[in-house]
Parts: sequence; C-alpha cells; structure tokens
Amino acid sequence: MALLAEAVAAHQAGQLDAAEALYRRTLQHQAGQPDALHFLGVLCHQRNRSEEGIRLIRLALRATPQHADAHNNLGNIHKESGELVEAEACYRRALACQPQHHDALSNLALVLEAQERPQEAFEAFAELLEQAPQLGRAHYLMGMHRCSHVKEIEDVEQAVVCFRNALRCDSAHKRARDALGIGLYMLDRQQEAIGVYREWLACEPDDPVPRHMLAACGGEAPPPRADDAYVRHVFNGFAESFDEQLLEKLNYRAPQILVAALAGVLEAPQAALDVLDAGCGTGLCGPLIRPHARRLVGVDLSDGMLRKARLRGGYDELIEAELASWLRQDSMVWDIVLSSDTLNYFGELIPVLSAAHAALRPGGWLAFTLERLEGDEDRMELSASGRYRHARAYLERALLASGFAGASITSESLRKEMGKPVAGWVVLARKAGANPI
Ligand SMILES: C[S@@+](CC[C@H](N)C(=O)[O-])C[C@H]1O[C@@H](n2cnc3c(N)ncnc32)[C@H](O)[C@@H]1O
Repeated sequence: MALLAEAVAAHQAGQLDAAEALYRRTLQHQAGQPDALHFLGVLCHQRNRSEEGIRLIRLALRATPQHADAHNNLGNIHKESGELVEAEACYRRALACQPQHHDALSNLALVLEAQERPQEAFEAFAELLEQAPQLGRAHYLMGMHRCSHVKEIEDVEQAVVCFRNALRCDSAHKRARDALGIGLYMLDRQQEAIGVYREWLACEPDDPVPRHMLAACGGEAPPPRADDAYVRHVFNGFAESFDEQLLEKLNYRAPQILVAALAGVLEAPQAALDVLDAGCGTGLCGPLIRPHARRLVGVDLSDGMLRKARLRGGYDELIEAELASWLRQDSMVWDIVLSSDTLNYFGELIPVLSAAHAALRPGGWLAFTLERLEGDEDRMELSASGRYRHARAYLERALLASGFAGASITSESLRKEMGKPVAGWVVLARKAGANPI
C-alpha cells in the first residue's frame, strides 16, 4: 500500500510520469488493485489517453461496483469527451451508490443542462443546494443556470442573489465575483458592479480580470483591445473549466455560421488553400474549414485553449501568439484568414485588420464575426460581457482604412447570453488582386 500512497502523492503533485510508473508497479505487485486501476485511469485521461482511462476505470468498477468516486470520474471522462449520455449514466450510478455525492450531483445537473433538459437540470441544481447549502459552488452553478435561462428580469435578480450567496460561502470564488459584477451591470446597477470590481482589485491588484471588467462597467477608460494577460487568464480558466463551457456556450453557433458564409463564396472544397484560424480557441472551426485547406494553422494566446484544439486534431500547426503581432511577421502567405468570435476582444480594429490584409495573398478572404452595436453612429464600446461591440459605421470605416473595399456585412445571432440572443456581424472581406480563389 505504501507504493500506492506514493503514486497518489506524485499524482497530486502533478508528477504524472512518476505517478504512472508507480501505479503500474503497484499493479505488478497486486494485479487488479481497484484504487490503482481507478487512479491510473484518471491519469491516462489527463494524458489524452481517454479510451485507456475508461477501460481501466471499468476494470476497477468490476471489482468494486459500489465505488461512487470511480463512477463519478468515469462520468467526467465521458463528459469531457462530449459523451453526455454515457456521462449521465455514470453520475446516476455514482448517486445510486452515494446519494449525497455533491460532485456527482453537480455533474449530473451540468450534463442535463448540456443535453438541453433545463427543468431536470434545475431540479438537480436545487437538490444540490438543499444537500449542501454552505457550498459556494452550488450557489454559483444555480446562478449560472438562471443566467442561461433568463425569461424575465427577476431571473437575473435571483442569479445575483445566488452569486452573493456563493461569495458568502466562499469569498475566494472568483467566477462568482465576476458573474456578480456582470449580473449587476445587466440590472443597470452599474455603481454596485463597479464597487464589486474595485473591491476585488483592492484585494488582488495584479489580477487582469477586475481591471478589464472595471473598464467594461465604465469605471475606467477601456483599452484599445483586451490585454494579453486578461485574454490568457480568461481562456486558460475557461479551457480547464468544462462546466462553464457547458453553461456558457449554449447555442454558440459562430463557427458554423461563419464557415457556411465563407463556403458560399469559395469554390467547392479541394483541400487547396492555406488557411489561418485566427484565435482558434479549442478548434471548433478546424473540422468545418479543413476540407478547403491544404494547410491549416491555428493561432491563439491561450495555451489552455490550444491544448484542447490539439486534442480535437485536424490542424497542421498550432501556435501560441498574440494575433495582430503574429500576423505582421509575414506578408501574402494566406488564402483565408478566418476569425470566429475573436475580434470582439479587439476594440480598435484597424491594426488587426490591416495586419490580416497584409498577410493575405491577392484575392484572399478575411472572414470574421463581431458583436453588433446598434445605432448609426461610428463607434464601438467595451460591453459588460468584457467583449467589444462594434457599430456598422465603425466596422465599414475600419475595413476601408485597412484596405478591404466592398466587404459583405450581414447580421446574425451568434450565441445566447442571459437567455437572450446576442446580435452579431458576419463579415466577408476580400483582398483585391489578380489571384482569385
Ligand atoms: C471565444 S474564443 C473563440 C474561439 C474559436 N474561434 C471559436 O469560435 O470557438 C476567442 C479566442 O480568441 C483568443 N484571443 C483573444 N484575443 C486574442 C489575441 N489578441 N491574440 C490571439 N488570440 C486571442 C482567445 O484566447 C480565445 O481562444
């Protein structure tokens, strides 16, 4: 057993090579030892060998079928592999073994939500709150659930109460603090939102999130684009936190809409083009655009997002870099620069659009989405979501100033936020020149 304890300690310390070797030695001494099989399964999944992980945990469960943690961890592997039905079954088995298993219950609620079964998800979140009223995460998840299904303003008010309760239980819960600020801003309680971010900044002066969000609430002048530290912080956290993805990415359609619009102006796919996915994130655009690409490269600031894109596969290269600076390094190298839901982290568009223009070959296409700011004025703003919104007049001027004449700009709903569709722009802009594709 000493060997197993050593393996677990190495695993907890993030020493995955050492931990794997120790688990395997444990299994040589004690074939079929269920804890070693179970933890080795979790480790295999962490090392992108999910199928092996599933097989090992199933073996462990054959020996100890009442092991709630093993069922829960098996569910997590299925959940993170997008196998929601299997994940749900595992969480239900965990709860059958141990009805008060809080992780399994919150995971069950999340996969119900992700399967668009909001009433059942609500009941599971409510049960979790009843079981664990002192658990900050339980209040936070209920708040996020309410935000995902806003029908009337009272839903946002109730969400704000949930986020306050989350912070009362766990004052270090940063996501609850962030969500509280956004909720207050949505309720037009701007001064309270500013107060939340100022208080947060006073405790953590180096944290890029409250600094950015203070500007988003009008408490400070907005930067020309979201700074690198903010983008990395938000998206690294997001990549690791699958739960928030499931809750926040509901009805997110930007990649599908953008690639469909682009396909409308391209020839039938012949795998002949050099394509850059600019701000590729977890790689949702990759499989959609791949049939057109001879070479597909993704660029992103967040190594967490890039890790997920690597797992998804389909890219020839994935590069960690700031987009506008990286684009400036080479000229006339891409047939397509595609950017889904990324340029809304840029307020001033001319620097990045000009860089994309220079990087495209003549006749090449720049395709991107933005969030839409209503009105005829030539302006953009940093909104309470932390993303920028651009008015059509601003966008048209920025495109022209960057060298793109005659771009197509259409309005589409790209995602839902607080239960409401968020209006966006889908832009197809072509670099003039003699090399039509
Ligand atoms: C909302 S995600 C969209 C990801 C992907 N394109 C999609 O549609 O699923 C925005 C991505 O843009 C990246 N990003 C934002 N600003 C960036 C910048 N200045 N340089 C590089 N990547 C950036 C973020 O790291 C994040 O992965």
